[in-house]
Amino acid sequence: MMGWRCPFKLGDGSLNPDLRNRLEQSRQGETLKRWEGLSEGDKKGLENQLLGIDFAQAFGLFLGQGNAAGAPPLNALKAPTIQTGPAQEKFLNMGVKALRTGEVAVMVVAGGQATRLGTTKPKGIWPITPVRNHSLFHLHAEKVLALSQRHGKAIPLLIMTSPSTHDESLAHFEENHFFGLAPGQARFFQQGIMPAMDLNTGQLLFEQPHRVFTAPDGHGGSLAALKASGLAQELWRQGIRHLFYFQVDNPLVRIADPVFLGQHLDANAEISCKVIEKTRPGEKIGIFAEVAGKCHLIEYSDLPGDLAEKRTPDGKLLVRAGNPAIHLFNLEFLLQILEQGSALPFHVARKKVSHVNLQGEWIVPQSENALKFERFIFDLFLSASRWLLVETAREEEFAPLKNAEGEDSPETARAAQNRLFHTWLTRAGAKVANFDPSRGSPDLEICPFFALDEKELADHLPKGISLTAPALIDKKTVR
Ligand code: UD1
Repeated sequence: MMGWRCPFKLGDGSLNPDLRNRLEQSRQGETLKRWEGLSEGDKKGLENQLLGIDFAQAFGLFLGQGNAAGAPPLNALKAPTIQTGPAQEKFLNMGVKALRTGEVAVMVVAGGQATRLGTTKPKGIWPITPVRNHSLFHLHAEKVLALSQRHGKAIPLLIMTSPSTHDESLAHFEENHFFGLAPGQARFFQQGIMPAMDLNTGQLLFEQPHRVFTAPDGHGGSLAALKASGLAQELWRQGIRHLFYFQVDNPLVRIADPVFLGQHLDANAEISCKVIEKTRPGEKIGIFAEVAGKCHLIEYSDLPGDLAEKRTPDGKLLVRAGNPAIHLFNLEFLLQILEQGSALPFHVARKKVSHVNLQGEWIVPQSENALKFERFIFDLFLSASRWLLVETAREEEFAPLKNAEGEDSPETARAAQNRLFHTWLTRAGAKVANFDPSRGSPDLEICPFFALDEKELADHLPKGISLTAPALIDKKTVR
């Protein structure tokens, strides 16, 4: 490192001197070389982009000197304590009270690039509901609105986007008149970005000759973004005390579930998380564990294969406390963390990143060629002294949309909704003809304004009703 000199002749002097200095310190000789060959307009564009990129942070991580997440302490981990058992009336009442007094806000993270789904559009606008074909955003907004109406308080909906998803997500809400939410009830805020770096040289990669490749900085970027936007403080002033967090890709999420809220309140927890049982060793879900009294989440990519495969004598996976990414945060705790400025560490991943090389050729790598840097929200859990894990059933709350086909695809997410609605309907005494539970079809859909959960459905559904799938259950079709 000592005595390093940029091997390239530096540009024409018009590059912002501070930026040039920082590029030199981060040894970004290739970027400086590219700069020289650009038109005046492209130079301006690149300069502006570089001013918003923390390449020094990325370069530090490349050198192994930055704030990188450590390896999971596998030999120190214990199975965590998980609250199980039927929903108690006491918890329901506590949760309902918090909703009625306006102490709860909802936050959805929707900044990911949906690479596995193979779409260039934000995942939130993907049509997901079985009969109406409403988008994920539409469904989540309807649930928030229905919940707000049920409890007589407008529940704030925070939507975190990234530069890759922001414009189209916002346009989707605008075109649909914010799905009926009250003015100001939906609040958009944007997470940051990080560049990718050549795995061997630590040089920035370019997606166009004058444009650096960047990607969202992970959902852990939500903390910095909440702080920068002033939203966390604003919510506090508004009287919000708890933030319900979920991922945009799960149509089954029970938003601001009052029983979960009650459990969280009763435990006076700083952080509470729902847990589902992991049943397949290869399933791409994180795993909760306890390490030295703290809540630790081991990402699926960090879980060694032999440990993932291990089973208990009753045939269950040994390590099975799966993460559906449904959390509750105590806002005071979150604000303290934000005030301390303690940034979450970066996870450094080796990825394939297509790019334009110095000669202007488009390179599609056959193997990993780049480092990407992301923060994960669950590293926050390690800071909590009081935390709670609550078990839930996968079929009731988790059917993520990840892949274009096969597991966790539009087809499985749709079938999971159909099956859940079928269960609710039959338990409420309805006769549903023509539905095949094993295939999860034909389609069934219960509009959130008709019922948000099984109990509400049982209260609203006419006794002894007969339906034939496909069927939509809403206030117009069922009276
Ligand atoms: C994630 C979790 C995993 C969990 C699983 C449940 C991580 C690292 N792991 O895995 O523990 O069991 O979901 O479905 O998240 N997002 C952003 N900004 C970003 C990156 C992602 O907002 O920079 C959002 C996405 O829009 C999505 C969510 O975070 O809503 C999850 O991202 P994804 O990449 O799908 O995570 P998984 O690898 O499936």
